Amino acid sequence: MGAWNEGRRDDPKPCRKQDNGLFEITARDGRARLGRLHTAHGVLETPALLPVINPNIRTIEPREMWDRYGIGALITNSYIIWKHDELKAKATADGVHALLDFPGVVMTDSGTFQSYIYGDVEVGVEQIVEFQNSIGVDIATMLDVFSRPDMTHAQVEACVDETLVRAGPSVATSGRTMLNGPIQGGLFRDLRTKSAKGMAAYDFAIHPIGGIVPVMEQHRYKDYAKIMLASLPYLPPQRPVHMFGCGHPMLFPMSIALGADLFDSAAYALFARDGRLLTPWGTERIESMVDWPILMPCVAYISPSEARAMPKDERTKLLARYNLEMTLSELSRCKQAIRDGTIWRLVERRSHQHPALREAFLWLSTRPQQAMMKLKMLDDLILNDRDAGRERGEEAGSWEEGWDWLVHAQESPRKGGEAWGGEDTFVRPHIVAARRQFIQRWEPSGIEGKGDDSVLIMHGSSGPWRERLSDIMARLTHHCPGLEVLILTPVGLVPYSLEDLNPFAHIDGPEWLWRRRPNLPWIRRELDRLFLGDRKIVTVDMFGDGIQARCMEALLEAGVVDGVDDTSASAVPLDRDGRDVAKSIVYRRLVSDKLTVLLNVDFADARRLLEDATFVVNRQGRVKNAKTKEGAHIASPRLGDGGLSITDDGAKALHKLRKMTPPSSLDPTFNLGPKGAGPAWIVVDDDAEPFVRQGRNVFHGFVLAVDPWIQPSQTCLIVNQKGELLGHGLANGTADEFCGFKKGIAVKTRGGISEEAP
Ligand code: GUN
Repeated sequence: MGAWNEGRRDDPKPCRKQDNGLFEITARDGRARLGRLHTAHGVLETPALLPVINPNIRTIEPREMWDRYGIGALITNSYIIWKHDELKAKATADGVHALLDFPGVVMTDSGTFQSYIYGDVEVGVEQIVEFQNSIGVDIATMLDVFSRPDMTHAQVEACVDETLVRAGPSVATSGRTMLNGPIQGGLFRDLRTKSAKGMAAYDFAIHPIGGIVPVMEQHRYKDYAKIMLASLPYLPPQRPVHMFGCGHPMLFPMSIALGADLFDSAAYALFARDGRLLTPWGTERIESMVDWPILMPCVAYISPSEARAMPKDERTKLLARYNLEMTLSELSRCKQAIRDGTIWRLVERRSHQHPALREAFLWLSTRPQQAMMKLKMLDDLILNDRDAGRERGEEAGSWEEGWDWLVHAQESPRKGGEAWGGEDTFVRPHIVAARRQFIQRWEPSGIEGKGDDSVLIMHGSSGPWRERLSDIMARLTHHCPGLEVLILTPVGLVPYSLEDLNPFAHIDGPEWLWRRRPNLPWIRRELDRLFLGDRKIVTVDMFGDGIQARCMEALLEAGVVDGVDDTSASAVPLDRDGRDVAKSIVYRRLVSDKLTVLLNVDFADARRLLEDATFVVNRQGRVKNAKTKEGAHIASPRLGDGGLSITDDGAKALHKLRKMTPPSSLDPTFNLGPKGAGPAWIVVDDDAEPFVRQGRNVFHGFVLAVDPWIQPSQTCLIVNQKGELLGHGLANGTADEFCGFKKGIAVKTRGGISEEAP
């Protein structure tokens, strides 16, 4: 017997009764998520692969799937069981888990796919749901109507409408069994959205994206990505999304980054039958293979030629194991990437492994950029795609909602270096998110004084810039307070005040990336976005020694400063008191700009809050703490990501600044909020109040209302229904997610505020 039999895995423990059917997120990276689906046959960790088991041909035994591969759920076909007398009798008598000898979660499909392959099926809409219910499946599927990519708009609409008509009776019949509500819509954006919105209104537990098998078979991965973006933003985020029939590992990273939670695969067995191996870059034949593309445990002691010499059945089983191991290994890689916050980088890397994946990736990543940045170099690609879209009857600009949905959910700032990956770096969703936030919220200083018609662009060198620039910043602040100093980074311009903010501050790449000559038309466009477009531009290369002198020379030459005869660093007049005052101004700007950009605090309020503030600065010249003139420590810049942590006193001060009425309901609408409205508020139930005041996390289910600009990893204020401050913390979702989730952490509380004595 194989070694797997020696290590039997225990049967799963059923979830708590009240949790049955609930889904929670335990980690995320943008819209990619690690989750837990609670069922009577265990808690299924997602993203998960559900191997397809044909009850008539069991290439790998379900029990082995459970014991050896740790598979928590599988999918089989209820229509096949229903049609087959013997299977039907056993399933009806002993249940589907006994029929398959599988203790975990069992999902069944309904016969829709059979109707797509063979024409009509004989079973009724309610009948098949009832049957699935009667054999004890955990997750059943309604009989949806398959929409093919070659169908016309009218034909596809008929499939979508008929599926919607069947949704009500199917849900009504499903009883306590969780039910899949598949999304149809072919290749039509409007119909995918219609289907998603329509199906979302029914009480389904999971939404599979249907009709994608022919799309994948034809390698139309761009269409696959479009289908996802036209559907997922309109589905309740607390219901897992299943990519129906997607089991090829090459599609996992992109699908997961776009929000997919479940996959099913018959491919591992089907491909094995004709000697094909699944890999993250495509499919390989074993015919003339000398070495395995990647060594997997099941072939550790077997060469491809030995495998070829095996009897067919044995070989199929071996290759099916190989395919399953490969599939699980890619899934495991994706899961770790979510924890590490690098899922998009994985998508980026994998996109180079297949031309159709690359096409999908470019479509995804360049379109949001186009909307915001007008990147000339990508114009052609986008125009071509737009033309193709127009031929199919798509309106221009109609994908914006989908991109916003993706970008808005990105955590920013993030810790650690940002690995440069060529032009793709610029279009990573979290970088787009960071830039959006900065461009929408930041304001120039507006101080009148010398240089207020100019900007100084420092370029040519990677960070950290503080040591090199802090002295010159003090001098410039003193001599020309109206001058804006910005640093040119490979992902855009940032003001000196945000010099340590990720991702701008920390791009890991080759030296020449920084040495590129500044592209003035591009800089001008960037300045336009920052309302600095009409200013005179002075550029200074930071590379090498004597930066102060070079800086002053450039400013003198441009007429921005005058009256300084000797431009050598030490001779630019600034006495000790002058320097201390100037440094304070620089520090104040540093903290107030972070309050404005990261916490959405009104620009004038942020400056007022820090009027006559004092700053604790470490030996490297970094601000550690900001204290108001009354001595209250309100905020500390974070070392890891350049973000800003607020203290309890900081939360109190920001709470007082709120001018808008508190949010009054849960609404899935999300946006960056009115400029200057302050950090998002989250209103919690009275039951949660004492816990939050003690500093405990807020759980979904206790949240009554949130502001639409709440974003994952960003500071929010926790209040009760009277609007009183209970605490502050880091939000764990977007408004649409707060609206739907009933389980899991909603806010990681960083500080609780005790009740004030009456
Ligand atoms: N299996 C693969 N695609 C589909 C689909 O669109 N609907 C159903 N029910 N099953 C599928």
